[in-house]
Amino acid sequence: MTGRGQSIVLIGFMGAGKSAAGRALARKTRLPRFETDEIVSARFGLSIPEIFATFGEEKFRDAETEAIHQFSHEVPAIIVTGGGIVLRPANVQLLRALGMVVSLEADEETLFRRISRRASRPLLETENPRATLVELLRVREPFYHSAADVRLDTSRLTHDEVADAILKRIEAR
Ligand code: S3P
Repeated sequence: MTGRGQSIVLIGFMGAGKSAAGRALARKTRLPRFETDEIVSARFGLSIPEIFATFGEEKFRDAETEAIHQFSHEVPAIIVTGGGIVLRPANVQLLRALGMVVSLEADEETLFRRISRRASRPLLETENPRATLVELLRVREPFYHSAADVRLDTSRLTHDEVADAILKRIEAR
């Protein structure tokens, strides 16, 4: 693809460490950081669980797509996305045009442990969150893989190590 931007775009499942890595990357690169969940939340004036409960997932997804339309190819940034952003092919196309797409990954146990720390993921508010995670992961993995320029396993890395590994992998390309 020609004319891709200079941003670093983080994708991956809930609990993959996107937000923490995004903050570390912004600190290290001094680039501005944008997070689609924060943009959508601000737009509705509601938390993500409240948006899902009040307006439903589809409206949330529409706002998520709107959010990534606001990013400019000319403004390099650290862009942190929500775990479901890759489900719409048009989103992936937009994100890839903005810069390098990095898929953060972790083993199932690690994802579940990290996700269990906060009750902020409406999609996992089910009777059996672990089974839901396994199923969502199975469906989504191919989307993350095919959207990514770079893939990184964060299971055994600190936030700083994740950021350093991303910068090294991008430099090497
Ligand atoms: C979602 C992931 C969440 C948030 C929303 C939906 C998903 O973001 O966008 O709850 O579909 O995987 P995180 O990946 O930052 O948890």
